[in-house]
Amino acid sequence: MTESKTMLGGELAGQVALVTGGTRGIGRAIAEALAAGGARVAVVGRSAERAAAVAAELPGSGHQGFACDVADPDSIAALVPAVEEAFGSLDILVNNAGITEDNLLMRLRDEDWDRVLDTNLKGAFLLIRAVSKGMMRRRHGRIINISSVVGLTGNKGQVNYAASKAGLIGMTKAVAKELASRNILCNAVAPGFIETDMTAAMTEEAQSALKGQIPVGRLGKPEDIGAVVRFLAGPGASYITGQVIVVDGGMVM
Ligand code: NAI
Repeated sequence: MTESKTMLGGELAGQVALVTGGTRGIGRAIAEALAAGGARVAVVGRSAERAAAVAAELPGSGHQGFACDVADPDSIAALVPAVEEAFGSLDILVNNAGITEDNLLMRLRDEDWDRVLDTNLKGAFLLIRAVSKGMMRRRHGRIINISSVVGLTGNKGQVNYAASKAGLIGMTKAVAKELASRNILCNAVAPGFIETDMTAAMTEEAQSALKGQIPVGRLGKPEDIGAVVRFLAGPGASYITGQVIVVDGGMVM
């Protein structure tokens, strides 16, 4: 079945999703997957123009772009009411925005730690707190945090990033326990190596060495993550909460 630009009657029809860092890479693929499922999507990026441009390109209709810096608490405080007012609801939150600031432990500066933790972990906390008020009132919500296999295994040169991604996993489980009775489910997705701007910086040599460690023999695609997030947001995942779904071609078992 082909999905036309206006008539999408998928399993997420009638729902509103907010995706941070939705303008490129994994976030954009997540926004596309949720839109293909019938959701209206609030695409959040640091640039309002870019977010609006991506929103206009998503399948279906009714999507909008919003500017927000998730490392800025004031920016988050303004975002959630703006999205709820524009759409009249907010059912699905995907905390995808994330950065790396890699360095070996001894060279890692305080500001590298703060920037990564503020963006990857505190930003997700602030957004979860901000959206859960409305979700609790409506007794319905799905929260999906994009962690990383590095949050499970650790990685040299990524003490700050690994801490932020492991922190997201602990937060996912705590939020799942707190909010399950209100019919709000919270899960994490831990991607392995996915082909995006974040991994394009690797040399070809490093990429082929990496493929040797991945049982399915290829790097992941952003769509591989989008499909899992769409599932976690949908009716098929209504009995799943507090879980970490590893999507890495079998690299970490
Ligand atoms: P990317 O660098 O291509 O995209 C990151 C997105 O987050 C961009 O849209 C960027 O504008 C946005 N962003 C960054 N800081 C922000 C801020 N302060 N406020 C608002 N938006 C901000 O990265 P990619 O690869 O698409 O990664 C997306 C998520 O997936 C990240 O959380 C990353 O840690 C995670 N991940 C990526 C993996 C990979 O192999 N690419 C592996 C495991 C996890």
